[in-house]
Amino acid sequence: MKILLLSCFLYFTLFQIIKSEPVLDTSNEQVRPGYTYYILPASAGNGGGLTLAKGENGSCPLDVFQARNSQSVGIPLKFLMVNSSAGLVIDENEDINIKFAARRYVSICNVSTVWKIEDGIVTTGGIKGGSENGTSTSLFTIQKYEDAYALQYCPRATGCSFICPRLLCGYIGILPAENGSRHLAVNRPVFKIVFRKA
Ligand SMILES: *[C@@H]1O[C@H](CO)[C@@H](O)[C@H](O)[C@H]1NC(C)=O
Ligand SMILES: *[C@@H]1O[C@H](CO)[C@@H](O)[C@H](O)[C@H]1NC(C)=O
Ligand SMILES: *[C@@H]1O[C@H](CO)[C@@H](O)[C@H](O)[C@H]1NC(C)=O
Ligand SMILES: *[C@@H]1O[C@H](CO)[C@@H](O)[C@H](O)[C@H]1NC(C)=O
Ligand SMILES: *[C@@H]1O[C@H](CO)[C@@H](O)[C@H](O)[C@H]1NC(C)=O
Repeated sequence: MKILLLSCFLYFTLFQIIKSEPVLDTSNEQVRPGYTYYILPASAGNGGGLTLAKGENGSCPLDVFQARNSQSVGIPLKFLMVNSSAGLVIDENEDINIKFAARRYVSICNVSTVWKIEDGIVTTGGIKGGSENGTSTSLFTIQKYEDAYALQYCPRATGCSFICPRLLCGYIGILPAENGSRHLAVNRPVFKIVFRKA
């Protein structure tokens, strides 16, 4: 009995270490770095996809918002792998960069459309990759959340790359403003999402 329990325990421990579940899109296909996706709310009638707009007082860089209109799918995005040896599909809990795949938005503020966190808000002008200094503010993960997914922000210590231990991860949620706009922000109630191929 003891041996059985022990081998069960070992099995589950190994299983957890080895197993990484691929993230699936709304067609039940694995989410891949080469493709573009819309990030949409998991439940209908809950606003639209993700868009870019200037922040307060028309300031740069562009911030990430959820479209108020439920009919709007927003701007397509790409998920970039940070760990180049991590395979061909995006897995749950894997470190990624997130980028709007819409070149015309780059010129508005002359910065990248890679997401980063600044003052708790999801904004742009982040740096791709994870092995250079100062890229820690652009490290996100996709987590399975109930029957859908959620994004987490998982920074590292200043000047440290993705190989360093994760500091406290925070879920990305919606920060509503008085004017009705919906900023994406960290440490908010979870924004449950799905990925639809663009
Ligand atoms: C609404 O308010 C937010 C937060 O103050 C601001 O960032 C955003 O630019 C405003 N949007 C509009 C359309 O005025
Ligand atoms: C926007 O303008 C108001 C009024 O001038 C100012 O109080 C506020 O700090 C500004 N916000 C930003 C983010 O610059
Ligand atoms: C990068 O991916 C490889 C292959 O999955 C893995 O063995 C390694 O631990 C990962 N590195 C980090 C820092 O997560
Ligand atoms: C855009 O930014 C780069 C450096 O990041 C700079 O060299 C270039 O002059 C800028 N272009 C414009 C139009 O501001
Ligand atoms: C990263 O930061 C450390 C400490 O600030 C510095 O010594 C190192 O040269 C930097 N590396 C790169 C590639 O900029």
